[in-house]
Amino acid sequence: PLRSVVVGTGSCLPEQVVTNADLAERVDTSDEWIVQRTGIRQRHIAAPGETTSVLGARAARAALDDAGLTGDDIDLVICATSTPDHTFPATATQIQAALGIGQGAAFDLQAVCAGFVFGVSTADKFLTTGAARRALVIGAETFSRILDWEDRTTCVLFGDGAGAIVLEARDDAEGQGVLSSSLRSDGRHREKLYVNGGPGSTGTVGHLRMEGRDVFRFAVGQVTDVIVEAFAQAGLTADDLTWFVPHQANRRIIEASADKLGIAREKIVLTVDRHGNTSAASIPLALDVARRDGRIRKGDLVMIEAIGGGFSWGAALIRW
Ligand code: ACO
Repeated sequence: PLRSVVVGTGSCLPEQVVTNADLAERVDTSDEWIVQRTGIRQRHIAAPGETTSVLGARAARAALDDAGLTGDDIDLVICATSTPDHTFPATATQIQAALGIGQGAAFDLQAVCAGFVFGVSTADKFLTTGAARRALVIGAETFSRILDWEDRTTCVLFGDGAGAIVLEARDDAEGQGVLSSSLRSDGRHREKLYVNGGPGSTGTVGHLRMEGRDVFRFAVGQVTDVIVEAFAQAGLTADDLTWFVPHQANRRIIEASADKLGIAREKIVLTVDRHGNTSAASIPLALDVARRDGRIRKGDLVMIEAIGGGFSWGAALIRW
């Protein structure tokens, strides 16, 4: 049977770093408050012209280089984003063009912070059915452009960036690659986390709005169901895990989720301190960091997991 195996990773962060102290000059907040509640110390913010597709294309090129491949080898591009350059065309097609890819299919996927997990699960279906041979799965975001920079309850939480992986269909890789995935959505929670604009409402881009406490409670209370399901599908448990690479929203959510699942804290890959919450980009960014610093190695069992607006949430288990 065909398996979807990770053959490369890449990422891209804007050069500009904004610290908590920098934010304290703009809104009534403090480094102490932000670090204590979220674990965030700094975030990267895109410069004018550094759009989601620009960051996404850089991350994708790095992933191709890492895999020793070129655009000619790719026949599926999925870009998970909530901050596309334009309403249409898809950011994925702009990344495709930037990489000189003229074959295959490219489309965006919108599941907010869970977008990368949804993207990996979707690409896996294409690859294991033989519908595509090699996929770029990208998470790319510029949330700085949908933040209300006057609202201290949200503007301190997010950052910009992009990450990408290359998945390859292989028929000699039993037990390797994407082992399982579980996805969920429940649109009844719209009011908890949404953007108050768009073509169908105000006609403007709008700003992110969030009921932070309710999101926190839901994230810790409910989302472990998809992780339990992903382990069960693969016939594995938390003890088998090498690395837990969750969506990087908030250190407290991450640690509470790991504790609840019996995942040892040493297995957590944490980048939220340096990146902030980069929505769909946070997991592929963290994967690239942990692979390049030598933590994630061939044979490791890696759980990725995220929850975001909708709510939508999901988990996937990958044998590296
Ligand atoms: N600086 C200083 N004070 C602040 C700030 C700030 N940046 N923001 C809020 N406060 C104040 C509030 O006004 C409030 O003051 P009050 O008591 O005088 O009314 C006080 O701090 C406490 O506010 P709460 O909102 O109750 O603080 P809480 O402990 O819930 O922490 C936080 C807020 C960090 C947002 C928390 O709710 C949380 O982590 N929620 C999850 C949010 C999240 O991660 N969302 C993204 C996940 S999904 C996705 O990735 C899209």
